[in-house]
Amino acid sequence: MSFIVAIDGPAGAGKGTITKQVGEKLGLMNIDTGAMFRCVTLGMLQEKIGIEEEKEIQKLLEKIEIDMKENGTFFLNGEEKKKKIREDEVNNSVSPVSLIPIVRKKLLELQRKIAEGKDVIMEGRDIGTVVFPNANVKIYLDATPEERAKRRVKQNQEKGIVCSYEEVLQGIMERDKRDSSREIAPLKQADDAIYIDSSDMTIQEVVTKIITLIEEKKRKGEC
Ligand code: DC
Repeated sequence: MSFIVAIDGPAGAGKGTITKQVGEKLGLMNIDTGAMFRCVTLGMLQEKIGIEEEKEIQKLLEKIEIDMKENGTFFLNGEEKKKKIREDEVNNSVSPVSLIPIVRKKLLELQRKIAEGKDVIMEGRDIGTVVFPNANVKIYLDATPEERAKRRVKQNQEKGIVCSYEEVLQGIMERDKRDSSREIAPLKQADDAIYIDSSDMTIQEVVTKIITLIEEKKRKGEC
């Protein structure tokens, strides 16, 4: 039987880093579902398939191979795409791609299949609400838009990318609105998820809090 920890929340809340560290400490396989949407987006860009071309998208989904290694590296049709899926071209197209119902259906099946019989920590937007409504532990990780914008600006500076705080904040607020108001699988906290606001917490504090929550639930026999 699988043991599933679902981590949902908006972009920039720290899900990626925190999920990776909790997974490593507790021996859970780390699955980044955003990276799967990024792989499909990259596949569409490579084959020059537009967002409206449903038949072409369907054909692509029938043949596409998305694979991941324990260390979180993603493979698209056998080729390693760790960096490519984080580049601007994909960043700019992934949100509309994630709205396409046939893409979501395909990835939902894949997400459930990858987790079959395994102990996993899966991060995304709809893991606790749609992908695994019966997950053993559900966390909704949040932070204020201002704090998330600050973090994104800092990350960009570290990569040598110049950007304005106002522009980044505006982008985050628009994306939040789009992600939470979409019809299928909107970003929202599951009723039984534990809410964590990471705005004033360090990564280490959030990691420790989540591990403590999981261990407490296990001890009480709640999961
Ligand atoms: O977490 P991320 O930035 O890598 O996610 C990329 C995009 O995919 C983002 O626009 C939200 C979307 N996404 C989604 O709709 N459902 C998920 N479970 C994960 C990501």
